Amino acid sequence: MNVSDAILKRVSIRKWKSAPVEKEKIEKVLEAGRRAPSWGNTQPWRFIVVQDKAKKEELAGAAGGQPVVADAPVVIVCCGMIEVFSRKMQRQSLKQLMDVGALAWTDDILDNVVLESDLFAPYRLGEQIMTIKAGEQIMIAIAYMTLEAVNQGLGTCWVGAMSAKDTHQVMNLPDSMFVHDLLPLGYPDEDPKPRPRKPLKQLYFWEKYES
Ligand SMILES: Cc1cc2nc3c(=O)[nH]c(=O)nc-3n(C[C@H](O)[C@H](O)[C@H](O)COP(=O)(O)O)c2cc1C
Repeated sequence: MNVSDAILKRVSIRKWKSAPVEKEKIEKVLEAGRRAPSWGNTQPWRFIVVQDKAKKEELAGAAGGQPVVADAPVVIVCCGMIEVFSRKMQRQSLKQLMDVGALAWTDDILDNVVLESDLFAPYRLGEQIMTIKAGEQIMIAIAYMTLEAVNQGLGTCWVGAMSAKDTHQVMNLPDSMFVHDLLPLGYPDEDPKPRPRKPLKQLYFWEKYES
């Protein structure tokens, strides 16, 4: 399946066949997330694959009882860590990019310009900004995973309406990690039409914005 087809075919799935999802297919979906781009290649995402029924019910509880979570054969708990945006870890990621020739910086530029810049180094702006930045990257990876799921004949439904705190507790996560979203995954038991979208004219502009 080409990318355009996957984009057009993807819709949120909320009814699932009970058939389990093959491990290889789950791994393909996770691999799509791993390949996603991220700020300075920081890759703040961590994904936990949950198939245990009781645990999925607890996760659904943290998501306001949404059946899309409890009924899915697989729930991927999409987490992140902000420490990748610490000076030390961001430096490591950027240095790795320099080593493979993706960034043509010297150590001096890295240490004295890039990592001293409010624009390039989120750690300078505090934990709130680091958390927002980490969250942005996680969402890119999730978007990639939703498309690979389509390619594998699977469906997903992005679930953001959940208590990150309760999910954190359910998953018994360390303080260094936070929960961003849930991604139920499985074989669709429905074939919904594409959901409405705003018209192109309202969304796209050439050269300048026109209200
Ligand atoms: C960040 C995010 C959070 C979402 N949270 C939920 C959710 O908690 N429950 C749900 O049923 N759908 C959720 N959705 C799915 C949206 O409702 C859905 O993407 C939107 O209605 C468009 O439909 P489509 O995905 O079928 O194109 C979420 C989507 C996104 C991107």
